Amino acid sequence: MNEYDSDFVSQYLINMGYMPIEDPAEADIILINTCTVREKAEHKAYSLMGRISSLKKKRPWIKIGVMGCIAQQEAENLMERFPGLDLVIGPRDIYEFDEIIQRVLEGEKIVSTKLDIIPRIPALRDDFFKGKVKAFISIMQGCNNFCSYCIVPYVRGREVSRPPHEIINEAKFLVSHGIKDITLLGQNVNSYLFNDNGKIIRFSDLIKLLAEIDGLLRLRFTTSHPKDLSDDLIDCFYTLNKLCSHIHLPFQAGSNRILKRMNRNYTREHYMELVRKLREARPDIAITSDVMVGFPGETEEDFQDTLDLIEKVRFDSVFSFKYSDRKGTKASMMPDKINEQEKLKRLKTLQELQKRITLDINKRYEGRIVEVLCEGRSKRGDLWTGRNSQNKIVNFRSDKDELPGNMVKVKILKGYANSLFGEKYYVR
Ligand code: 5AD
Ligand code: SF4
Repeated sequence: MNEYDSDFVSQYLINMGYMPIEDPAEADIILINTCTVREKAEHKAYSLMGRISSLKKKRPWIKIGVMGCIAQQEAENLMERFPGLDLVIGPRDIYEFDEIIQRVLEGEKIVSTKLDIIPRIPALRDDFFKGKVKAFISIMQGCNNFCSYCIVPYVRGREVSRPPHEIINEAKFLVSHGIKDITLLGQNVNSYLFNDNGKIIRFSDLIKLLAEIDGLLRLRFTTSHPKDLSDDLIDCFYTLNKLCSHIHLPFQAGSNRILKRMNRNYTREHYMELVRKLREARPDIAITSDVMVGFPGETEEDFQDTLDLIEKVRFDSVFSFKYSDRKGTKASMMPDKINEQEKLKRLKTLQELQKRITLDINKRYEGRIVEVLCEGRSKRGDLWTGRNSQNKIVNFRSDKDELPGNMVKVKILKGYANSLFGEKYYVR
């Protein structure tokens, strides 16, 4: 999401004649995009703000801004803490970025954190996607769920879905500029719903419309909420070849008692049933997830329920976090906080279990042939790299120059914890 937002403002700045550069010490405008979902990300952002603000000592004319969720939450406080800032702009306000940045360049200091701005089409520059094969489209903003631990509904506002014709035009533009793999984005992507003059367009309807675009090879979406994973969406995994065999479906906890306290609105039984239906629709589907340990009041038994769910589902991979208090959320006011040491212990146990499962799943790819959308040279330089439908990184040998954007058949020789390795497969 933040990457999409950064690209969104970048394209406006390029339109105004600016050029992206690597070294912030040489930039004339610096925008720091921030996340406040977890404590760790917030600390990182504050230390970056300190370092970037000091660049003004040497180059007082530069403009420095903070965008994203910390901007939304802290607003004026940020200007007070870092007087060098010229702009504090919330996630919804970037849709008015062109007007706001103009005023900043004229010398105004601006704090803009309105949450009621309707999402707009990005500036979409022709040259922006050169050499890229994957892109994101933000199809909805905000969240109405108010999970008790989560700051997102407070900093990103209520849910609003973009009109389907805008999304389709954006996708067509991307495809005509070489993009083959599109990920639809939203905090709660599968609750997408648009009333098009009385005609209701559900998320599954939108996916079907997008799958018709010629030249688009792959469609993905993230992040889904289990309570909104409807049968019509699961059906798309039966019928749409372009829909990739991957779903990111955060479960957060394996204990029904904790799920209730989290206000997640599903049970572990419901979650497992969704997994069963997804695998029935698409046997090779990769399922990834988010999970938290140490939610207030989480007992050893609750934690064992989480481990048990992980063992039963066998996720392809899991992002796991220690619960952290977020200011103003319900969970932050709950008693029975778990101490840091215990949280760390649970996190380590969980991560060891998941690592074993991920490695085991990836090893089962050895000997199989997968289709990889080539993205270019791998980091090491002597291999090619891309992803398979399951979104796994595949590094591979080839005796030919592979073109980014080409679909390549690869025989997997080795499965690792974070990637697969193989060689180009020639059909004899
Ligand atoms: N503490 C720890 N993890 C959190 N997440 C969201 N809020 C918190 C919090 N207060 C995690 C959830 C979510 C992911 C994006 O971040 O697992 O799915
Ligand atoms: Fe946060 Fe996701 Fe829950 Fe919304 S659905 S409140 S973004 S965890």
